[in-house]
Amino acid sequence: MKAKGSFICIEGLDGCGKTTQTRMLVRRLRRRGFDAVHTVEPSRGRIGRFLKKYLLHGKERGSGIVEALLFAADRFEHVEKEIIPALNEGKVVVSDRYVYSSLAYQGATGLSLDWIRRLNEHAVCPDLAIFIDVDPATVTRRLKAKKSVMEDLETQRQVQRVYVKLAEAGELLKIDGNRPLKAVADDVLAAVLKFLGKAG
Ligand code: TMP
Repeated sequence: MKAKGSFICIEGLDGCGKTTQTRMLVRRLRRRGFDAVHTVEPSRGRIGRFLKKYLLHGKERGSGIVEALLFAADRFEHVEKEIIPALNEGKVVVSDRYVYSSLAYQGATGLSLDWIRRLNEHAVCPDLAIFIDVDPATVTRRLKAKKSVMEDLETQRQVQRVYVKLAEAGELLKIDGNRPLKAVADDVLAAVLKFLGKAG
């Protein structure tokens, strides 16, 4: 049975502003009367909390395969415990990262995208997936200034290449994130309202 709600996810490189954009989008949708909820990956569940700690140890991280398995396990919980129940209640679910993060980040380690997709077969397909595209050099500078655990510039470039390929294949809607926050937020909102108008 098709869920009543709508599922949107926001993707992009670390430091691209996607968390701010996700929060703004949810606030602006609520102001327009939509029952919107914000979720995130790694999720707030047990595996997600473990993954957050695991990711802090940047230098000791395991293979792409281990990471893909852990993120897929966390996603299974996220889908079962948060996304599907909210969709069944007719909500607009906005997720800060989803399966495209595994394709981009673990795919950038050289893993087959087909294998990552098979691993994530349980993940419900979003109705709209947005990629906020910011220049890897810009995000690397921002993360350095914040002293965040971060990928090096070359890794960020590889991750961006996968996202761009997915956008070119029509799986993600690319929005230029190299602009002031409000301009990006307006485009994100316009894309979502266009979709919700159609879906409604
Ligand atoms: P965050 O910075 O958005 O909280 O994401 C945490 C990190 O986890 C970020 O570097 C991207 C990474 N990640 C993956 O590598 N694969 C995934 O499937 C997800 C959801 C996140």
